[in-house]
Amino acid sequence: MYNLLKGKRGIIFGALDESSIAWKVALQAHEEGAVFTLSNAPIAMRMGKINELAATCNNAVIIPADATSMEELANVLTKSMEVLGGKIDFVLHSIGMSPNVRKKIHYTQSNYDNYMKSMDVSAISLHKLLQAAMQLDAISEWGSVVALTYIAAQRVFPDYNDMADAKALMESITRSFGYHYGVKNKVRINTISQSPTRTTAGSGVSGFDAFFTYADKLSPLGNASAESCANYCISMFSDLTRMVTMQNLFHDGGFSFTGVSEALIEEMSKEKE
Ligand SMILES: NC(=O)c1ccc[n+]([C@@H]2O[C@H](COP(=O)([O-])OP(=O)(O)OC[C@H]3O[C@@H](n4cnc5c(N)ncnc54)[C@H](O)[C@@H]3O)[C@@H](O)[C@H]2O)c1
Repeated sequence: MYNLLKGKRGIIFGALDESSIAWKVALQAHEEGAVFTLSNAPIAMRMGKINELAATCNNAVIIPADATSMEELANVLTKSMEVLGGKIDFVLHSIGMSPNVRKKIHYTQSNYDNYMKSMDVSAISLHKLLQAAMQLDAISEWGSVVALTYIAAQRVFPDYNDMADAKALMESITRSFGYHYGVKNKVRINTISQSPTRTTAGSGVSGFDAFFTYADKLSPLGNASAESCANYCISMFSDLTRMVTMQNLFHDGGFSFTGVSEALIEEMSKEKE
């Protein structure tokens, strides 16, 4: 380890169980010398294993919050500053949920209460978090906020459903808020666009296994794992990436810029034989 986050204070949202990307980020942030609090929705705390993670990370304090509530988000920020002893240097937003996906409602038949919920939980929560942080002046200069996204924001992946719209909105919030927070406090905000990853949220998308294999075969480096995504998050929280802001950063083994691969052509040719 490199002590990349030595002396830094953070908040990590969205660790549910060991497969969660946020879980791996927490383990690596701990190894890199950071102190942080953990947050998740109250219901996820009952179902998940966040207590185990907290114990592994120097008894990190857990502060529950529904990410759609400004009050609860403000409470996470205030309590985190109290517990950690100062302003926050890094934040991971690793939150996503779509009732339409969960209930297998087709994109073209969207239920709009569900649709609004998808936007609120998966995208507007980032805006609420940033607004609450700005009001409380909770993030230090050169602080770094990272949110996780998926390439369905740019290209069509039919089964991703309304999460594609939520991710597109979240990436836009990243640019817009990134501008304002950059000017005001030099706070930087980026999204990392991750390969398909076997987690509770990821596996909820129908056809996930076939799609995982397809992406793996298309990407020159193969799919990026949750661990390598955590590595990238750590580098984005570190001082080595200070001038990066308002970006959508692909972390996908080259998937986003590959048209077709020999591995896929071989696969398709086999099917014809
Ligand atoms: N798994 C993938 O294939 C993949 C690919 C690209 C991007 N992502 C994104 O990565 C992020 C993390 O997902 P993951 O794959 O680690 O799955 P995950 O299920 O482990 O994490 C999703 C988290 O969102 C939390 N959450 C849901 N509703 C919430 C609410 N109202 N308030 C607070 N928290 C809430 C859940 O409790 C859970 O901890 C998500 O934004 C997801 O869209 C995942």
